[in-house]
Amino acid sequence: MLIAIDGPAGSGKSSVARAVARRLGLVNLNTGATYRAVALVALREGVDLKDGPTLAVVGGRVELTANGVFYDGELLPEDALRTPEVSAAASKVSAQAGLRKILTGRQRMAARTAENLGGAVVEGRDIGTVVLPEAELKIFLSASPEERARRRALQTGREGELERIRKAIQTRDRRDSEREASPLKPAADAVVLDTTSLSLEGVVGRVVELVSQVQQAASRITPESI
Ligand code: DC
Repeated sequence: MLIAIDGPAGSGKSSVARAVARRLGLVNLNTGATYRAVALVALREGVDLKDGPTLAVVGGRVELTANGVFYDGELLPEDALRTPEVSAAASKVSAQAGLRKILTGRQRMAARTAENLGGAVVEGRDIGTVVLPEAELKIFLSASPEERARRRALQTGREGELERIRKAIQTRDRRDSEREASPLKPAADAVVLDTTSLSLEGVVGRVVELVSQVQQAASRITPESI
C-alpha cells in the first residue's frame, strides 16, 4: 500500500507521516529531503541555484531511503539539511523542472522498494499529483499560515521570531504553489484535511481511519464483483 501525504510547510506532514508509518508498520519516505540534499550540496560546492543542468547532475547522485538521504553514498546529517539557509535554497532549486524530473525518479524508486516491503507513507508536495498518482490513499494537509508559523517556531525553539517565520512560510508557499513545474496543489482525488485546530493524534487517527476504509473497499472488490 502507498499513502501519499502532501501539504505546505508546517501543515504537520512530517509528524503525521512518521506517526502513521509507525502505527501501520510501513516505511516512511520524506521526499523534501531530496530537494534539501541538492540545496545543501549546491551551497557547499558553490553551484548557482538557477543552474538547472548542474543541479540535475547533483540530483542524480541523491538516494532516498527510509533511513535518510544519501549523496554519493554519504548520509547527509539531518541538522545540516534543516538550517534556514538550506530551507530557502531547497525551495529555490525545487522550481527547476529538470531537477524535479530526476528527483521524481529517485523518489519513485524508493517508493517501489518500500512497496515490496509492505508499503510506504510518502510525504512531500507533489506525491499525489506527480510522483505516485496511483497511490491508494492521498491526503492533503493544510493549516492557516499563523498556525503553521507557530508550530515551526515551537519545533525549532525560535518562538521570538514568529513574525519572520510566518513571512518566510508565506514566501515559500507562494513560490511552491505558483511555480510552473508541479505546483503545490491537492490531487483531484485527495482527501483535504485542515489541521489548524486538530491535535497531532487527532490527524493521525483520522488518516488511520481513512486507510482502513480504503483497505475495506479494496477487499470488497472480488473477481466476482468486477
Ligand atoms: O517538506 P520540506 O520542507 O522538507 O521540503 C523542502 C522543499 O522542497 C520545499 O521548498 C518544497 C520542496 N519539495 C517539493 O517541491 N516537492 C516535494 N515532493 C517535496 C519537497
